[in-house]
Amino acid sequence: MTQSSSQTWSQRFESALHPAIAQFNASIFFDIELIEYDITGSQAHAQMLAHTGIISAEEGEQLVQGLEQVRQDYRQGQFTPGVDAEDVHFAVERRLTELVGDVGKKLHTARSRNDQVGTDTRLYLRSQIEHIRGQLRQFQTVMLDLADQHVETLIPGYTHLQRAQPLSLAHHLLAYVAMTQRDWERLGDVYRRVNISPLGSGALAGTTFPIDRHYTAKLLGFDDVYSNSLDGVSDRDFAIEFLAAASVIMVHLSRLSEEIILWASEEFGFVTLKDNCSTGSSIMPQKKNPDVPELVRGKTGRVFGHLQALLTLMKGLPLAYNKDLQEDKEALFDAVKTVQGCLEAMTILMAEGLEFRTARLNSAVAEDFSNATDVADYLATKGVPFREAYNLVGKVVKTSLAAGKLLKDLTLEEWQALHPAFEDDIYGAIAPQQVVSARNSYGGTGFEQVRQALQQARQRLSEV
Ligand code: ARG
Repeated sequence: MTQSSSQTWSQRFESALHPAIAQFNASIFFDIELIEYDITGSQAHAQMLAHTGIISAEEGEQLVQGLEQVRQDYRQGQFTPGVDAEDVHFAVERRLTELVGDVGKKLHTARSRNDQVGTDTRLYLRSQIEHIRGQLRQFQTVMLDLADQHVETLIPGYTHLQRAQPLSLAHHLLAYVAMTQRDWERLGDVYRRVNISPLGSGALAGTTFPIDRHYTAKLLGFDDVYSNSLDGVSDRDFAIEFLAAASVIMVHLSRLSEEIILWASEEFGFVTLKDNCSTGSSIMPQKKNPDVPELVRGKTGRVFGHLQALLTLMKGLPLAYNKDLQEDKEALFDAVKTVQGCLEAMTILMAEGLEFRTARLNSAVAEDFSNATDVADYLATKGVPFREAYNLVGKVVKTSLAAGKLLKDLTLEEWQALHPAFEDDIYGAIAPQQVVSARNSYGGTGFEQVRQALQQARQRLSEV
C-alpha cells in the first residue's frame, strides 16, 4: 500500500498499519474528550512560537485562528475524526493543516505528543476537579439544609450495627458534611500538583529551539513548569492522586448509600423514598427499590479499580514515555464521569428524593436500651465509680429484658433497690431528648453542639 500525502509517519515507513492494528493503536475513540484542551494547549504553543521568534507573528496568528476554527467545526459537528487520525493530537493538527495550509505543519515545531498529551490531560483534569469541588459544595449545602430541619429529630446511633446511643439526626448528617469537607480540601491539594506544565519537555529531553516554557505555562494558567523534562513527560502521579481522592469521595458516598438502603428497608423504616428517586419491581408490585444509592455503592468499585489500574500501569515503566501511558485516559475519564454522576444523583436524592420519617425516628429511640449509658453516667455523677455503675446497669438491663420492660418503665422503688442513689430525676435523665441534649462535649451530639457545628459548617462553605 502506498501512503497518501496525509500520512502520519515519516518517510521511514513504507506501508500503512494493518487495519486491525490501527484500530488497536488508536485512542481517538476516547481521547476526543480532550479536544478542547488540546486546541487551547496548541494555541498557547503557537503563541509562544511566535513570541520567541521561532515562527513569525503572522504565522502564529494564522495558527491560533485556524485552531479556533477547528474548535468551532468540532462544536458544530462538522469535524468528527476517525481511526485514521490515530489520536486527538494528530486529528487536530491535520484538520488545522487542511484549513490553513502549509503553515499548519509548523505547529508541531519544538513539541512532541508526549508533552502535548500531558498538557491536555492536566488541563482536562484541572477543570474536572473544579467541577467536582463545586458539586461537593452543592452536596454539602443540601446536607446542611437537611440538618437544619432535623436538629431535634432523633435517630438511633449504632456501633457494630447495634443500637448504641441516640443521636440528633443533624449530627448524623453533619458527619457527611465533615467527610466531604476533607474531600473538597484533598482535591484542592491534588489540584496544586495537577496544575504544573509539562509543555516544552519535548519528547523526553527538551528541545533545540529557544522556547519559553514559562510563557505557555502562564498563558494556560499553570502555576509552575516541570523542572525535569523526563519527569515532565512521564509523570502520572497527579492522575493517581486524583483517583485516590476520587476513591475516598466514593467511599463516603457509598457509606451514605448503604445507610439510606438500610433506612429505607421495612426493618428500619427511617426514610421513605419518593417516586422521583426510586423504581419498582417488574414482578413484585409492592416494591420500591433504592436504585440510586445501590448504583452509587456499586459504582464505587469502578473508581477503586481505576486507581488500581493506574498504579499497576505505572509501576514497571522505565523512563520516559511509553505507549502504556495511553491507557491512563479511559480510567481517568470514567472515574471523573462516575464521581460526577454519583455526586449529582446523591445530591438530588438528599434534596428531593427522600423523606425522613420523623415520628418513627423519634419513637424508635424511646423503645430501646440506648439510654443505658446515661443510667451509668447518672450514678457516676452521684459518686458511684463508673465501672461499678456500668455493672449495676448491665444487671438491670438483663432483668428488664426478661420482664419485657424498658428502663423508663422501672418504678422508683425498683431503681432504689438497685442503688440508693437513684432519685426521681432519673426519669428525666434517661428521656431520649435529654440523653441527646446532655452530650454537650465539643463535637458531640448535644443540640447546642450541633447548632454550633451547623453554623461553623455554613461558614466553611463560603470558603473558596
Ligand atoms: N495517544 C498518545 C497517548 O495517549 C499520545 C502520545 C503518543 N506519543 C507517542 N510517542 N506515541 O499517550
